[in-house]
Amino acid sequence: MARSALLNVMVQAALKAGKSLSRDFGEVQNLQVSVKGPGDFVSQADIKAQKIIRDELMKARPTYGFLGEEGEEIKGTDGAHRWIVDPLDGTTNFLHGIPLFAVSIALERNGEIVAGVTFNPATDELYTAERGGGAFLNDRRLRVASRRVLSDSVIGCGVPNLGRGNHGKFLVELRHVMGEVAGVRRLGSASLDLAYVAAGRFDGFWETGLSAWDIAAGILLIREAGGFASDFDGGTDMLDTGSIICGNEHIQKALAEVVKRPIPTK
Ligand code: IPD
Ligand code: CA
Ligand code: CA
Repeated sequence: MARSALLNVMVQAALKAGKSLSRDFGEVQNLQVSVKGPGDFVSQADIKAQKIIRDELMKARPTYGFLGEEGEEIKGTDGAHRWIVDPLDGTTNFLHGIPLFAVSIALERNGEIVAGVTFNPATDELYTAERGGGAFLNDRRLRVASRRVLSDSVIGCGVPNLGRGNHGKFLVELRHVMGEVAGVRRLGSASLDLAYVAAGRFDGFWETGLSAWDIAAGILLIREAGGFASDFDGGTDMLDTGSIICGNEHIQKALAEVVKRPIPTK
């Protein structure tokens, strides 16, 4: 697998930030038992990881724009390129000592995602994709799962929580999906959820209320693994709408139909 120079820059940034997160993840387990808990420490770890990524990316391409979850967007002098970064996706897992979190970095060119990297430092799983070049997990080429029917499928989702999302609407979606599928999963890291779809571990996934940095890299991973993603309106404005339904061509369609089924009137 030959990586372009740009993808290499992204991989190096993700690995470096991942190393820092791994060290801090070890410390989180110690802080778990302290009265104050690891909350403040985790937000520092998150900010530190973003700084590592921003420094690496800006050093390599000083004119590109930079949109990261932690802090103000930097508008680049090069109007065509923008990095989209989540330095720690799966913060709640990280905070609770659950090893399902990731660094996620995407590169946008003229509004299209052209490269993506998602790295889980706890499992050493590095997902990479470049437009037209395929998707990979470490050195292995990825392909979405080939199951054609929901009844055989494991579907990932996001669950709204305290103070976030439309709980009633989600419960209706879940009620419809759970009656049709072999299993429903909630990992707690949208970037990894999408990487799992690309890797064929999940047959499909849906979630609303997401941000561009949660899904930018993952959308490319899925497309390059032969899968499809749409927003809840059936278009491809996932980065703006923050909603996504994805899978192979059969499961994506079937899942969209079930997720969007109207609320029963009785
Ligand atoms: C969150 C995770 C989670 C999703 C949330 C995101 P964060 O990102 O991706 O799976 O359900 O909507 O905000 O806060 O851990 O970076
Ligand atoms: Ca996130
Ligand atoms: Ca985050």
